[in-house]
Amino acid sequence: MENAQLIVEPSGKLSGTVELIGAKNAVLVIMASLILTTGKSKLTNVPYSHDVLQMIKLLESLGADIFFDVHERVLEVDTTDLNRWHVCPEIMKKMRASILVMGPLLARFAKANIALPGGCLIGARPIDLHLKNFKKMGAEIIQDRDSFSVTLRTLASGTYVLEYPSVGATENILMASVLAPGQTKVVNAALEPEVMDLICVLSKMGAKIKTIAPATIIVEGVTELRPVEHAIMPDRLEAGALLLAAAITGGEINMPQARADTMDVFLLKLQEMGHHIQVGENQQGIMLRATQEPQAVSFKTGPYPGFPTDLQAPMMALQTVAQGTSVIEETVFENRMLHVRELQKMGAYIQVQASKAMVTGVDELFGTSVIASDIRGSCALVLAGLVANGATVMTGVAHFKRAYDHLEQKLAFLGASIKLVGEDASPVMHSYRTKQRREEMRS
Ligand code: UD1
Repeated sequence: MENAQLIVEPSGKLSGTVELIGAKNAVLVIMASLILTTGKSKLTNVPYSHDVLQMIKLLESLGADIFFDVHERVLEVDTTDLNRWHVCPEIMKKMRASILVMGPLLARFAKANIALPGGCLIGARPIDLHLKNFKKMGAEIIQDRDSFSVTLRTLASGTYVLEYPSVGATENILMASVLAPGQTKVVNAALEPEVMDLICVLSKMGAKIKTIAPATIIVEGVTELRPVEHAIMPDRLEAGALLLAAAITGGEINMPQARADTMDVFLLKLQEMGHHIQVGENQQGIMLRATQEPQAVSFKTGPYPGFPTDLQAPMMALQTVAQGTSVIEETVFENRMLHVRELQKMGAYIQVQASKAMVTGVDELFGTSVIASDIRGSCALVLAGLVANGATVMTGVAHFKRAYDHLEQKLAFLGASIKLVGEDASPVMHSYRTKQRREEMRS
């Protein structure tokens, strides 16, 4: 993947109907939550992305048996023999979401040995809110450089107030508390749609959870949870990327599975740009017909239901060719402007001051060599490439592949001129079975 390149050429109007795959940010935490159960669970609509493959390795290293039918996108996880609580640092470093096994491991084994997680370099990304609340729950944490040994005498229920509604910290506390005796309250919790999908799965397992406005989650502990079957919610970030691809090229798109009620502020901003948006019954299904004269809009990222930080970079790509000036403020991550330099190389006019970017639309972008340095930045560069004059050659494709399930093929289906080239660019996808893999390793 290191030598792979995505080559994007001016593509004309993208148009068509596309299906969405399940959300990366939902499936990773839901996979982690299966540690809480004993037996076989089945997840459908599972994206084939590198982060999912990493989470498979992680669960397997703990003793789970896995079958991933990559053609049907069905994942079966059998946790009957899951009997380890040590995650090796190499796996932890591959993605931020690996920290999400801490809560379930503590709930199941009352101990966990983990390391500091890796992930995109979009800010300091500390895990202090996770650790602080686990300590309050009764965990004793011994840190040795970047690894942690965590033990728990009894899992204490109680009230946990988050000073910031961190998605990961909310999910971790929630997964730790479902098996804690008594009532647990998480105040100032993150209520992103992916957290709600996790709550849906935990409830199917038998957990007792309710949410109270504006942002409190209440858990009544139970003694046992059962395996589940669940279809992962459609990815609102893939939906966002596809809507933006149609919008920037002046095209039309229909996504029958997209859930408009998970992306209200984002859709509002697209409408303010002049794009026509139609939402189906019960907020299900989104159609976009692009304006040919897009107006610049300003926006500020924030926790849900605010403008999603994960769509900041892709939306900025649109502003680089809109009429007027847009002021974009990033409030969630302090270093999420790495795409700016690359967009500037393509001719975009952007000035950055602290957490704000001032983008003045230009008549034309130019294709050139660009480097993606994080997942959502890679999407922004691909979008810009669709309308740039000449070829855009993007390296750092591994970031794109960490989260998106063959998004380049969906864009090509809509009419984009895009291809993935280079070493290992399109490896044959093999279904994955733990037992078979272990036998192959033995022989
Ligand atoms: C999740 C998403 C990511 C998304 C982000 C915000 C997954 C796998 N990833 O990441 O795509 O961009 O939510 O919607 O679901 N923070 C602390 N201390 C902590 C935890 C977080 O200071 O202990 C800070 C972070 O550095 C960041 C902010 O809180 O500035 C938000 O982070 P958080 O909501 O935790 O994001 P993630 O769960 O890492």
